[in-house]
Amino acid sequence: MKILLISVCCFLSAVVASAQDITVLEPIGAVESFQRTENKLTFRCRDNSHVQLTILAPDLVRVRAAFRKAIPAKDHSWAIAKDDWTTPRWTVNESTEAVTVATDEIEVIVRRSPLLIEFRDARTHQLINADERPMAHDAQGKLTAMMFDPKAGSFVAVSKKLGFDERFYGLGEKAARLDKRRGFFVNWNSDTPGYTEGKDPIYQTIPFYLGLQRGVAYGIFFDNSYRSYFDFGRSSNQRAWFGAEGGEVNYYFFYGPSIKKILGRYADLTGHMPLPPLWALGNQQSRWSYYPDTMVEEVVRQYRERDLPLDVIHLDIDYMRGYRVFTFDQQRFPNPKALVDKLGQRGIKLVTIVDPGVKHEPRASGNAERYFVFEQGLEKNYFQRRSNGDLFVPRVWPGESVFVDYTLPEARRWWGDLHRIYTDNGIAGIWTDMNEPSDFVDQTGKNQLDVVSYDEGEKTTHAKNRNTFALLMARATYEGLERLRPDQRPYVITRAAYAGIQRYATMWIGDTNSTWEALALNVPMFTSLGLSGEPFVGSDVGGFIGRANGELLVRSYQVGFLAPFCRNHKVIDGYDQEPWRFGKYYEDIIRKYLKLRYELLPFLYTTLEEAHRTGVPLFRPLLLNYQTDANTYNLDDQFMIGEDLLVAPIVKPDVTRRLVYLPAGTWYDYWTNKKHMGGTMISVEAPLETVPMFVRAGAMIPTVPPRNYVGEKPGDPITVNVYPDDKGLASGTLYEDDGKSPAYKRGMFLRTRMTARREGNGFIVTIEGTEGEYSPGMRALNFVLKGRGSTPVRLRKT
Ligand code: GLC
Repeated sequence: MKILLISVCCFLSAVVASAQDITVLEPIGAVESFQRTENKLTFRCRDNSHVQLTILAPDLVRVRAAFRKAIPAKDHSWAIAKDDWTTPRWTVNESTEAVTVATDEIEVIVRRSPLLIEFRDARTHQLINADERPMAHDAQGKLTAMMFDPKAGSFVAVSKKLGFDERFYGLGEKAARLDKRRGFFVNWNSDTPGYTEGKDPIYQTIPFYLGLQRGVAYGIFFDNSYRSYFDFGRSSNQRAWFGAEGGEVNYYFFYGPSIKKILGRYADLTGHMPLPPLWALGNQQSRWSYYPDTMVEEVVRQYRERDLPLDVIHLDIDYMRGYRVFTFDQQRFPNPKALVDKLGQRGIKLVTIVDPGVKHEPRASGNAERYFVFEQGLEKNYFQRRSNGDLFVPRVWPGESVFVDYTLPEARRWWGDLHRIYTDNGIAGIWTDMNEPSDFVDQTGKNQLDVVSYDEGEKTTHAKNRNTFALLMARATYEGLERLRPDQRPYVITRAAYAGIQRYATMWIGDTNSTWEALALNVPMFTSLGLSGEPFVGSDVGGFIGRANGELLVRSYQVGFLAPFCRNHKVIDGYDQEPWRFGKYYEDIIRKYLKLRYELLPFLYTTLEEAHRTGVPLFRPLLLNYQTDANTYNLDDQFMIGEDLLVAPIVKPDVTRRLVYLPAGTWYDYWTNKKHMGGTMISVEAPLETVPMFVRAGAMIPTVPPRNYVGEKPGDPITVNVYPDDKGLASGTLYEDDGKSPAYKRGMFLRTRMTARREGNGFIVTIEGTEGEYSPGMRALNFVLKGRGSTPVRLRKT
């Protein structure tokens, strides 16, 4: 029996080992010749393969490879936002062994035989990243049998040398820790309720990662939407490889050396997150589902009576008539507009969920009420079909349903315009869900393999289009809201995604559990998403599935109150978890943190605008701010907001003290203003009512008095808290705009740069300058000095 078991195990491990064994693939041929054009260098190989380098910026080079054929003329990606790069200065040099391309920042050395690509720092010639073996493809179908969809295409792979102390970050939404070294990941958007650490894949695909070694960072964006694989040294300690079950070798190489610079370039390439309306930073409440309308009003009444700030209520699927998207249930919500107006008087916005599943309801089905969405879509032929021409009929909430082919431009437009039903009723934002797309018939996607999408006339199958489905649904929604309300910033939330999603949607990390393990994943997941170009993230505060308790809910708010997306949400059969559900003791603590979030709004908004402009996220791992401090490389139970606020939450039960790492410099305890020297670990008290928070000495943090909702008191003074460093200096920024319209894109904003310096016994605060044309109206700017005993010192403004 034992022997049998051992041999079964051996057999299994052999199967697993050979599953994605890229060493069996056929390497690309050696270089035969090359040709230079304005911004490209195209190599022809001995096996008639072609490799193309495109020089986009001094720190950005694209690599494409076509095996045994020319580089296809057609070049399209849903992820890419910018293709009009100004070619930077670059040179080519050749020797018998290699061809070297150099910009001012990167040197790309293409070794001729075998064809190996190497990236170096153009100034120091230091090696940053090098092929471990030539790029490869599955010429003989050796990996076909293990492919999810054997008809998808041919496996392609790129293998890089694994640095002895190289670290890996980003890769979007993974139920994993911050440093992904030794990890193996699959990208295939999947509906995975109740996922736990290690579950993979989950909802999103962002095939972009950062490598960091000796403090020097690079980025690789493998823009291939097929089911893809990333191995950061799991299968071999020699290589980190990535590959896909079809499509091209098509990757972008970014050189830092700073991660922040890479994130900026990545945002240039795949799109900068537009600013959502300011109220999106407000506190949000949801559950599956609040109905009827009077219950929604009751939730809001409770919030207001209990003095808990709130900006948004979400309507989950039960607001609809039998889960038919773009309808309201007449019994539950007879007059959505009246509800919106009533809530509006209390400062509350309403967001509705919209799923991709359109109820399959042909006219002949005998329904008294016809379903115009199905009828219109069918008539216009906008729904997905199988390769034999049949409608694709998955099962989702409405039962048998159909999905829109969002690759069709006119279908996207139609879908976007349908949102008029919501905007006419004053619905403020749209929550797009189930967009992996989830299909209850088969959650893996197997049932969808022969679904064909228009895809720019190429008529491609699910293998290519699954991972971009949510991106295009979010795009259709965003563009629809933009057309319907051109004077307002769209607000869209998504569960699934592909790279570029930040142009259209904010996101949350899906159906988490109400457990401590799930809470512990919040910080690495939010920070990793931030390192993957998605700054506006959050999770269901309190967890979605299962039962929270007062302690878990409080600790969950102590992370969530600083996440861009702060929404408490609960599954249909889960125990209620609004802030008051576990008693006054916990409610009082939650109130303290929600109020603090609102006090910090100017700081959060200033940092969010930075994310929009620079691609550097608001919710950061410490390594982003302290890239040369190796103590931060694995630190994923602490985070920072912007440059200045460090938070060390408690994510375990019954814990009231923890170690906190403070990077070099001086830090103020946020609660006591006591100063600490950084560069070390300190032990900090963390009773349930206190999350350890520290402010970087040298910071100036703008705040407002607490409020019930973001727009409540526009004229309130702004108080800037000054935390001088050891030299008595501090500086900070305040960003303001109307918080609603897209006018900020045309310069209607005000960025105020402030400094403070000690002079004698006092402090001088200087407004160093302002940028932009927005006038915030009459509002006072006050300055409060921190860390000088208990009495704040008023400052003289110059
Ligand atoms: C999915 C969503 C969840 C929602 C539910 C019902 O599970 O992730 O947030 O409540 O569907 O719409």
